[in-house]
Amino acid sequence: MDNPPPPSRSPAAEEALIRAALTPAIADRLRSARIVAGRAVIVAEAGDLSDQGRAELEAAITAALTPLPEIAEVRIALTGERRRRRLIAVGSGKGGVGKSTLTTNLAVALAKLGRRVGVIDGDIYGPSQPKLLKTEGVKPAATSDGKQLVAIDSPHGVKVLSMGHIVAPGKALAWRGPMTGKALSQLVDADWGETDLLLVDLPPGTGDVQLSMLSAHKPDGAVLVSTPQDLALIDAARAGQLFEQGEVPIIGLVENMAGYCCPECGHISDPFGSGGVEKFAAALEIPFLGRVPLTLATRIAGDRGEPPAAGEGEEAAPFAAIAQKLARWLDTGAI
Ligand SMILES: Nc1ncnc2c1ncn2[C@@H]1O[C@H](COP(=O)(O)OP(=O)(O)O)[C@@H](O)[C@H]1O
Ligand SMILES: [Mg+2]
Repeated sequence: MDNPPPPSRSPAAEEALIRAALTPAIADRLRSARIVAGRAVIVAEAGDLSDQGRAELEAAITAALTPLPEIAEVRIALTGERRRRRLIAVGSGKGGVGKSTLTTNLAVALAKLGRRVGVIDGDIYGPSQPKLLKTEGVKPAATSDGKQLVAIDSPHGVKVLSMGHIVAPGKALAWRGPMTGKALSQLVDADWGETDLLLVDLPPGTGDVQLSMLSAHKPDGAVLVSTPQDLALIDAARAGQLFEQGEVPIIGLVENMAGYCCPECGHISDPFGSGGVEKFAAALEIPFLGRVPLTLATRIAGDRGEPPAAGEGEEAAPFAAIAQKLARWLDTGAI
């Protein structure tokens, strides 16, 4: 007797079914996804992941697909192929809430986790990364064809580029719209070498730099920073809305300057209140990424270009914890 004909397959429908079951960040990694006789065969890009990240990615895919009735078995092949470099914006509504400090320290903490990270100082008018990453006065080289800047290696394994490395202080102040966009593109499109991830330290608010990022260099996600005061929170919400309108996922909210630890007596006081950001994040259904206390050491370290996250002191811990969450988000799309 003849064998019955095999059931007809629809590769597009199989792939759609699999993609729908995965988080967007994982779905973004798929090279191919098929279901053959109840067996899902997945090829995903993982060239940017550590061994642990690869294991977590496999586990997350298996956990997401196994419950589907169409799938009895999951086979996964991870390629060593490098993915497109990803951009994460660090934003806030107000200035002075610690965006730049957070960007620097998150980058250093991510580098400690084995990530290849660069920092773009998007604060064209008030650059602070040359100081924070101890590269003041360093001029970036150009590529041999003269078309790109070459990102500068800072002392803690993080690459960096800032308008502060290129123009004299105060020179960019008169720039508006198109000039700002061009300046930002020069930094983003520079030669970043092996860097997989760029953190962009944004100026405060919702101005030209934010708009040109959304139109020309759309970030893969945004981290928002706020101090616990109501006013800073309201401004952070406004910054968040801009990203949402631009369809940039908000990775979460960080509370900075969350309680002052007196270096003399160890007493913790709350100059700006405490816990407000977490409640606020819950109300807006934004993930809360963590709390960074106000410490004199953090401020002094910033001025010296010695990011606390590079050391082992207690100031490093909150940054390391937030970096872990960000790394998980990058690998799996969830924190
Ligand atoms: N957690 C913190 N503890 C102590 N000082 C901080 C902390 N975060 C930021 N600062 C200080 O506050 C000032 C403003 O921080 P900065 O990162 O430049 O903010 P923004 O980029 O949002 O304008 C800097 O002097 C910085 O050293
Ligand atoms: Mg800043």
